Amino acid sequence: MRISVIGCGYLGAVHAASMTSLGHEVVGVDVDAEKIARLSAGEAPFFEPGLVPLLQQSLASGRLRFTTDPAEAAGAEAHFIAVGTPQSADGTAADLRYVDAALDALLPILREGDVVVGKSTVPVGTAAGLAARLEGSGAVLAWNPEFLREGYAVKDTLHPDRLVYGVPQGAGGERAAAVLDEVYAATLAEGTPRIVADYATAELVKVAANAFLATKISFINAMAEIAEVTGADVTLLADALGHDARIGRRFLNAGVGFGGGCLPKDIRAFTARAEELGRGHSLAFLREVDEINLRRRQRMVDLVVESFGGRPFGRRVAVLGLAFKPESDDVRDSPALDVAVRLKGLGAEVVSHDPEAMGPAGRMHPQLAYAASAEEALRGAEAVVLVTEWREYRDLDPVATAALVDQAVILDGRNVLDAAAWRAAGWTYRGLGRP
Ligand code: UGA
Repeated sequence: MRISVIGCGYLGAVHAASMTSLGHEVVGVDVDAEKIARLSAGEAPFFEPGLVPLLQQSLASGRLRFTTDPAEAAGAEAHFIAVGTPQSADGTAADLRYVDAALDALLPILREGDVVVGKSTVPVGTAAGLAARLEGSGAVLAWNPEFLREGYAVKDTLHPDRLVYGVPQGAGGERAAAVLDEVYAATLAEGTPRIVADYATAELVKVAANAFLATKISFINAMAEIAEVTGADVTLLADALGHDARIGRRFLNAGVGFGGGCLPKDIRAFTARAEELGRGHSLAFLREVDEINLRRRQRMVDLVVESFGGRPFGRRVAVLGLAFKPESDDVRDSPALDVAVRLKGLGAEVVSHDPEAMGPAGRMHPQLAYAASAEEALRGAEAVVLVTEWREYRDLDPVATAALVDQAVILDGRNVLDAAAWRAAGWTYRGLGRP
């Protein structure tokens, strides 16, 4: 099938390359000429495992191209909208200008029977408004939310947990579902569950899923706060809770909390939308989820300050990790970067390291010092802060690391180190929510 993908950021670039690998002929469109040039050359504009080989194979097949000209989307049967919906500059609601612009770009080229497929994360009610704008074009709108995780984006796109189609009633909806079934034929053949719903449900599945995940993380972080005043160990608590299949162990890792381009902005936009709908009280708990999350970053900073007897000025701190999670170079709303910036703001001599995210972090915060290697960051440190659980840091040898630092103090912001092994090597070890 001929497919267009409007917006070639994280979601769109991965979607375009993945759809090509499923056998389709794909054109990716973006307003950013530099991004298009890099993608056309087989380079990923961000770090994502597996994307470069997939991109290169897809380009080599001759069935994938990238352009800045939306007119080249003409002739495609399915047009995916994969643009960003960031938090608006003047509040917590989502900024929908890129979604609107994508539809503006498509309107002149749509033909009878084309299917416009929304993948961007949008406030519930957006699809109905976009569908009204499509009236008279002959095209039909479907809403097909994306659940990919950064770091697993290719796998999650090709082998998702489920496919959700939001479609209108009647012939238009049948046409849209049939086109999506053809797009995802290979995925469906693997037995992937497929849920066909109305627009509002499809839009809600996405934000509800992210709200649930954020709540699960803040729940365990709230337990960490209680553990801290009772001497309990939140990691053992999570292990014990996780054995209950109804609860499950995943997303119960306490630490500096969630960040990234999705969870924080999605829960805020969802709350703002609920207020617009006169149901602010229904999602009031998400504010608490947000606040618990942000408190954990400060707790991490407080532990560092405490380790310096309340006087962090001029003390050398090695911050290990800047990305919002491992296997990513994304520093949007990153708890790790936030901790580094807060410590720097208190006058500490912060030296940061991250295997992938130092470029993006440096552009955002040039005032921080960035070390070429973890070893360089650790050398002479008076406290070590682990805030993104990259394998490289999890595998640090406590004995060898002790030889590099000035003071053997480690603050484990992701609760991933073996506390007993580090203590046995002479370290003062502190985790979040651990005795
Ligand atoms: C998230 C969702 O997991 C995806 O399903 C969704 O498609 C995506 O947002 C999106 O809306 O596009 P992602 O932002 O890539 O994916 O990252 P996650 O793996 O969900 O992690 C989010 C944050 O939570 C990270 O900062 C991570 O360190 C933190 N986290 C995760 C914890 O603090 N504890 C945990 O137990 C799990």
